[in-house]
Amino acid sequence: MNLPLLQTIHIAGVIALFTSLGAILLGGSGKKGASILHGVSLLLILLVGFAMLKKPPMGQHWWMVKLGLWLFIGVAPALSKRKVMPASVVLILCILAAITAAWLGIRKPF
Ligand code: HEM
Repeated sequence: MNLPLLQTIHIAGVIALFTSLGAILLGGSGKKGASILHGVSLLLILLVGFAMLKKPPMGQHWWMVKLGLWLFIGVAPALSKRKVMPASVVLILCILAAITAAWLGIRKPF
């Protein structure tokens, strides 16, 4: 698959991810669909991310930081559910993590 298509799918995954996070962290009851969307979009972002990397460039480190941010956004709903942090704080941290992940993907700084 060509890079612009993979980039578009990567962004589509991010849009779906934050749709699910909004429902999980701010929504009321009946969040099963949101949890499914959360898992599916995380998987999509990861798979397409690695497809864009082709072979992980071991000389570079920015994508490893992205993996950590991806993991944080993955466990975020549990942090709210287990009352480790308020849902609003979790959501703000997720948005900051995603902004950092986007910057890393665009700039590839290290
Ligand atoms: C939830 C976490 C993530 C968010 C919010 C995110 C977001 C973004 C955004 C906005 C871009 C710039 C637009 C683009 O080039 O497509 C990007 C690029 C990229 N992302 Fe992610 N990403 C995340 C996780 C990952 C993961 C886990 C990987 C794989 C290790 C990955 C690999 C890449 C790559 C390789 C690029 C650069 C593509 C290119 O060469 O242009 N991303 N990401």
